[in-house]
Amino acid sequence: MERVLSGMRPTGYLHLGNYVGALRQWVQLQDSYECFYMVADLHAMTTEFDQNIDLKELTIEMVIDWLAAGVDPNKSVIFVQSTVPEHSELFTILSMITPLGWLERNPTYKDAKENMKDKDLSNVGFLSYPVLQAADIIIYKATKVPVGKDQLPHLEITREIVRRFNYLFGEVFPEPQAILGEVPHVYGVDGRKMSKSYNNAIYIKDSKEEILKKVKMMVTDVGRPRRSDPGHPDDCKVFPLYKIFYPEIVDTVVEECTSAKIGCIECKDRIAKKLIEYLEPIKERRDYYEKHRDEVIDILREGSKKAREVASKTMEEVRNAIKIKYW
Ligand code: TRP
Ligand code: SF4
Repeated sequence: MERVLSGMRPTGYLHLGNYVGALRQWVQLQDSYECFYMVADLHAMTTEFDQNIDLKELTIEMVIDWLAAGVDPNKSVIFVQSTVPEHSELFTILSMITPLGWLERNPTYKDAKENMKDKDLSNVGFLSYPVLQAADIIIYKATKVPVGKDQLPHLEITREIVRRFNYLFGEVFPEPQAILGEVPHVYGVDGRKMSKSYNNAIYIKDSKEEILKKVKMMVTDVGRPRRSDPGHPDDCKVFPLYKIFYPEIVDTVVEECTSAKIGCIECKDRIAKKLIEYLEPIKERRDYYEKHRDEVIDILREGSKKAREVASKTMEEVRNAIKIKYW
């Protein structure tokens, strides 16, 4: 079976955007691949090192959402990056063969430097972020990496590092490929892309009341000021929720909306109820793990043990290849 690796930085509670953009796919992949899902706590430090955050707490809250969404410890290896120190070891070795230029030209790096001027991003770790990410992937010889579009430059750097390593030291690593899901947009309550930092997100953990309230606040078609005006689903920030959570009636919604048979209040109420229904089993699992945090820790400990077995084998091969295996 081919191997999948993916990771998320621990940001605490996950929202619908995270669910639709990543988690849903992670859950599906479990049946066709051997999956490794990693909490990238060291990667979180690259930008948050001065924020005094509790990475362990954020990790646990996030993993609870993973488990709630259906990431299954009996099918997948769920682990924390920092507890598999081989990642850091491989990172050091890869950093020796990675030209600075590759990292300086990385569009994600340039973007962040440009757009997050209020953050201190002058640290070595932030520039070398893609090298650590390469180590994460190739230490498991993963061939498939489910990621969002924003991560493609990082995956390209991984592939370049693999080619360079194999050229210099012999074929050790396979070149991984991205799995890019067809990801519909999920908008936040203010009509912008759903994001924790915009404060506009609907969270997996939100109560029924919160979900109802938030969906009610959402922006619909601004070109439909009156109930009697026909609407344009494609200009509506609520409509994509139908495509994701209620695909059976998408055609009906289009017809009702464009002929003004339904008002936005009613339409939003309907999708909110569907969303609540959809999230019910997820929230039930969430409640369970929230009450059984010890089990979450055990799952992570067990996952890290399995991950480490694979990672340390690869490191043996690496040490052989670069001729620093002394005994
Ligand atoms: N950089 C990824 C993100 O921000 C997280 C990540 C870390 C990752 N290591 C990875 C993703 C390895 C895929 C594979 O989303
Ligand atoms: Fe959007 Fe529904 Fe209103 Fe049409 S009726 S604009 S799809 S909320």
